Amino acid sequence: MNYNKKTVTDIEVAGKKVLLRCDFNVPMAKDGSGVITDDKRIRAALPTIQYLLEQGAAVIACSHMGKPKGEWKPELSMKPVAKRLSELLGQEVIMAADIVGEDAQAKAAALQPGQLLLLENLRYDKGETKNDPAFAKALADLAGADGVYVSDAFGTVHRAHASTAGVAAYLPAVSGFLIQKELDIIGGALANPKRPLVAILGGSKVSSKIGVINNLLEIADTVIIGGGMAYTFAAAQGGKVGDSLLEADWEQYALEMIKKAEEKGVKLLLPTDTVIADAYSPDANTQVVPTGEIPDGWQGLDIGPATVEAYCAAVADAGTVIWNGPMGVFEFEKFAVGTQAIAQALSKTDAITIIGGGDSAAAVQQLGYADKMTHISTGGGASLEFMEGKELPGVAALLDK
Ligand code: 3PG
Repeated sequence: MNYNKKTVTDIEVAGKKVLLRCDFNVPMAKDGSGVITDDKRIRAALPTIQYLLEQGAAVIACSHMGKPKGEWKPELSMKPVAKRLSELLGQEVIMAADIVGEDAQAKAAALQPGQLLLLENLRYDKGETKNDPAFAKALADLAGADGVYVSDAFGTVHRAHASTAGVAAYLPAVSGFLIQKELDIIGGALANPKRPLVAILGGSKVSSKIGVINNLLEIADTVIIGGGMAYTFAAAQGGKVGDSLLEADWEQYALEMIKKAEEKGVKLLLPTDTVIADAYSPDANTQVVPTGEIPDGWQGLDIGPATVEAYCAAVADAGTVIWNGPMGVFEFEKFAVGTQAIAQALSKTDAITIIGGGDSAAAVQQLGYADKMTHISTGGGASLEFMEGKELPGVAALLDK
């Protein structure tokens, strides 16, 4: 797929209305207080917003939040985002009471150059996720006849929705600085990496990582497997995994991946030892055993010390490291050691270090290594699909350079 797309600097925006799709799907406090617990995605959108405002565009920003499925759920309103965005920008953010209704239309029509309007949650309308052309056109109409569409919602480029893809049929469509940066860094590491390229893949399920393991075995020099999915590989090789997470249906696939690595000459590193627990609990009893010798009643919750050493050694010599998925149950301190060691090894290497979004980004942040990484993606599912080599509809929809 072609990632060489026009950006905000390739199009005239001064005096125009710009419909700006952001990914403001940020985590909120569970108590319903409207407190945003991590504003990284809002901060990541600032360079594009500031550029557009400085250029004299009137900016109509929009995003989804959660999965309201067409229902008007007040806890998923964009209002807390408007407040935070206004604090970060140091200027008023006008909040629309709806998406493409009377209030949004009136406020968009009255919007002046240098002003910013935020629409309500796009997914309050079913037309958004259905990529309904009428909804996409209504969004485009807010920007008027000479309007421009700018997409900076990297976290949502894997979705073919009205605001990420459909709208490009009605307005000239370009990317913002965030999408450009994500495409340059992740795309560059996949297409033309500084070698050796080491891919670290963790997380609980093989089934959710099939595409990425398969694609990275084509590209990487070393592929490292950790997290819950390692037990499916261990069981596939005849090991005993006790009560560990196991996807028996994927054992055959795991064997195919081991074979593929051999054929391609890719080093595939699997855990040799495991920290096991007698319960899925932060205060469980633990011991370290060889990965294929986990007794019944025990489950693997982290990689063991010998594995940590081998994985950190592989990272130390890397030119580029791509990391997606934690090595263990890092939310429990006892089982965060493997993930922490990898994060620390990445923080010390001279390699280009790229952290896929979602859990791995959360782990790096929680463990305090975020500012030591070359790039932490703002996309969870999006960065995973990018690393799988899939076409991203929200990028494909943009104008080619
Ligand atoms: C994300 O958080 O990964 C993006 O905002 C996309 O959200 P979605 O998985 O609900 O489409």
